Amino acid sequence: MARVMADRGIAAVFSYAGRTEQPRKQPIPLRVGGFGGVDGLVRYLRDTGITHVVDATHPFAAQMSRNAVAACRATGVELAALTRAAWQPQPGDIWRNVADIEAAVAALSGPRRRVLLALGRMHLARFAVQPQHHYLLRLVDEHGALPLPEYTSVIARGPFTFADDMELMRQYDIDLVVSKNAGGNGARAKIDAARALKVPVIMIDRPALPARLELFGPDQVLDWLDHSGTDRGV
Ligand SMILES: NC(=O)c1ccc[n+]([C@@H]2O[C@H](COP(=O)([O-])OP(=O)(O)OC[C@H]3O[C@@H](n4cnc5c(N)ncnc54)[C@H](OP(=O)(O)O)[C@@H]3O)[C@@H](O)[C@H]2O)c1
Repeated sequence: MARVMADRGIAAVFSYAGRTEQPRKQPIPLRVGGFGGVDGLVRYLRDTGITHVVDATHPFAAQMSRNAVAACRATGVELAALTRAAWQPQPGDIWRNVADIEAAVAALSGPRRRVLLALGRMHLARFAVQPQHHYLLRLVDEHGALPLPEYTSVIARGPFTFADDMELMRQYDIDLVVSKNAGGNGARAKIDAARALKVPVIMIDRPALPARLELFGPDQVLDWLDHSGTDRGV
C-alpha cells in the first residue's frame, strides 16, 4: 500500500506502533509510537490536516482499530480498514477454534506436546500456566529470557513459504500449532504445513470490531481515495 501511494505521489504518512527494533523501511514518510489513545489520535489528525485514515493494522490490533473508528468519527476524517479475509478451514485441516488467547491457553491443558506458538512476543507469559509443553517460538527481534519454562526460539521475519514452515515443523517435531486467524498469505504457510503434516491447530478467532468500511487490497483503497478526494493527506 505504501509503495502504491509513493508511486502515485499521494501525500501520506506511515505509522508504526514501535514494537519491533528495526521496523521495515517504507517509501513514504514514517512516524513511530502510539498517538496517546483516542484523544491523542484526534489531536494528531487535526494538527496534521489528515483527511483519510487507512487502518492497515493486523486484524488482532483491536485497540488501535477501535481508536481509529472513534477518532475518525470525532473529527469527520474518512476511514477505511485495509484488511484480509479470515482463513477458512479446508479439507484435511484439524482445527479447534477458540475465542481468544485465554481460551487458547485453556485448550493447551493436557499431556505434553511440542507446540509451535505462532503468536509473537506479547502474549507469551500467559502460556506459562501450561508449563508441560515444549514451545517453539518464532520472533522478530533477539531477546533475553522469555517467561516460559521450556522453549526454543527462532529469530526470523516473515513472510514465510510453505517449504520454510514444512522444514521448521519437521525439524522441531511439532505436533500442535497455536495461531491467530490472521488471514491473508503472509502468515498462512504454517497453516498449510500443519494440514500437510496432519498437525492439529488451535485457531484463535479474530476480535470483534466496530462496523467500518473494509477494503481488501491496495487497488480498492486507491479507488476509495479517488472517489473521496485526497488533496491534503492520508
Ligand atoms: N496483535 C497482533 O497479533 C499483531 C501481529 C502483527 C503485527 N501487529 C502490529 O503491531 C502493532 C501493535 O499491535 P497491538 O496488537 O499491540 O495493537 P493494539 O493492541 O491494537 O494497540 C495498542 C496501542 O498501540 C498503539 N498502536 C498500535 N498500532 C499503532 C500504529 N500503527 N501506529 C501508532 N500506534 C499504534 C496505540 O497506542 P495509542 O493508544 O497510544 O495510540 C494502541 O492503542 C500494530 O500496528 C499491528 O498492526 C500486531
